[in-house]
Amino acid sequence: MYEQHVLTNIFIPVLLIVERTLCNDIIVTPPVDTIALLSYTAEMKCRLDETRSNTVFWEKDNTIIAINKIIENRFVRKYNIADGDLNYDLHIYDIGFDDEGVYECKHSGQSPNAYMYVLDKKTQCATNNAVAISGEIVHFSCNIGLPNNAPGDLVWYIDDTEYYRSNFSISAWTTSLNRSHNGAEFVCQLEHTTISSSLWNLTACEDKIELSIEYGPIVSINDNSNGRVIEGDTYTARCTVDANPTATIQWDNNNWESNSSDADLVLFDVERRHEGTYTCRATNMLYNNETRNDSKAVFLSVEFEPELMAVI
Ligand SMILES: *[C@@H]1O[C@H](CO)[C@@H](O)[C@H](O)[C@H]1NC(C)=O
Ligand SMILES: *[C@@H]1O[C@H](CO)[C@@H](O)[C@H](O)[C@H]1NC(C)=O
Ligand SMILES: *[C@@H]1O[C@H](CO)[C@@H](O)[C@H](O)[C@H]1NC(C)=O
Ligand SMILES: *[C@@H]1O[C@H](CO)[C@@H](O)[C@H](O)[C@H]1NC(C)=O
Ligand SMILES: *[C@@H]1O[C@H](CO)[C@@H](O)[C@H](O)[C@H]1NC(C)=O
Ligand SMILES: *[C@@H]1O[C@H](CO)[C@@H](O)[C@H](O)[C@H]1NC(C)=O
Repeated sequence: MYEQHVLTNIFIPVLLIVERTLCNDIIVTPPVDTIALLSYTAEMKCRLDETRSNTVFWEKDNTIIAINKIIENRFVRKYNIADGDLNYDLHIYDIGFDDEGVYECKHSGQSPNAYMYVLDKKTQCATNNAVAISGEIVHFSCNIGLPNNAPGDLVWYIDDTEYYRSNFSISAWTTSLNRSHNGAEFVCQLEHTTISSSLWNLTACEDKIELSIEYGPIVSINDNSNGRVIEGDTYTARCTVDANPTATIQWDNNNWESNSSDADLVLFDVERRHEGTYTCRATNMLYNNETRNDSKAVFLSVEFEPELMAVI
């Protein structure tokens, strides 16, 4: 215990000296791999923790761009360096393909570098089929045209809500979709912190995907009288069907059948013999020729005034 204490005391001054030299004038914010948009401006960061005590160089592919804050003459239209004592952020204007390359911020023996990728293609969204049955697996792909080691995420949105995010090296997305996705808009875009989020719409595919998701009918019956009607009155019930593709609708009861595809069941001048169960059945056929159906029933009870059956 005592020995350890002595050791610590000996090492403290040594550590302080080492730390002092390391911390002095160090690059605290190095450049990071960046994605730039054609004809836009890009930025490579380089920030010091203390006022410069040595020269700062910016180089692109080993060519000097700037020394301290002075841009080389032939590059003055292309580059600019930020204001501020500790700030050596490099701004690159009017991005073209030849701006792609390695940018290096050199200072006091340090030379952190980063690659700038220039986005040259429109994002391509694709799917293997435009029609799918609810629950079926659907394959999507999102192609950007940058090498796999480029930074960033590929993000899929469905009707503007983020749905799936993957790192850049994975362009395929496989998922199962349900009826809530019928007619929804699928868009993939590239997102990375080096692209301002207000420009992410420029990295989104223009060929938005819209899928027809097929599903069997879901039937519901609505009437205003809860299955009760007074003799002589008209009874109306509506059969509401949610289906894709559109379903055929049929109402029937035990002794009566309607071939009408009308969603409304209308019985005029109801008689007692009309009492009974009325079923609405809907059927559709999916793209693989599979038929699906659903049905709901309402029991109609016919109410009438008490009658004298016989005179005593
Ligand atoms: C992307 O994800 C894959 C698989 O999860 C992983 O192997 C790869 O290292 C990741 N790439 C990056 C750049 O994070
Ligand atoms: C459809 O799937 C999503 C998630 O994949 C789920 O949140 C939603 O509840 C589902 N909707 C239906 C109608 O099944
Ligand atoms: C991208 O969004 C910005 C601002 O939100 C808008 O001004 C611009 O027109 C959009 N561009 C495209 C291609 O949608
Ligand atoms: C309904 O149609 C079927 C076949 O088209 C027919 O056989 C049946 O008689 C029809 N029923 C009524 C009540 O019209
Ligand atoms: C569905 O039926 C049609 C006509 O009977 C036929 O031409 C088609 O190949 C069938 N499709 C499938 C996926 O079985
Ligand atoms: C309705 O679907 C069921 C299976 O879910 C099937 O057994 C039945 O025959 C279908 N009825 C009609 C009228 O198509």
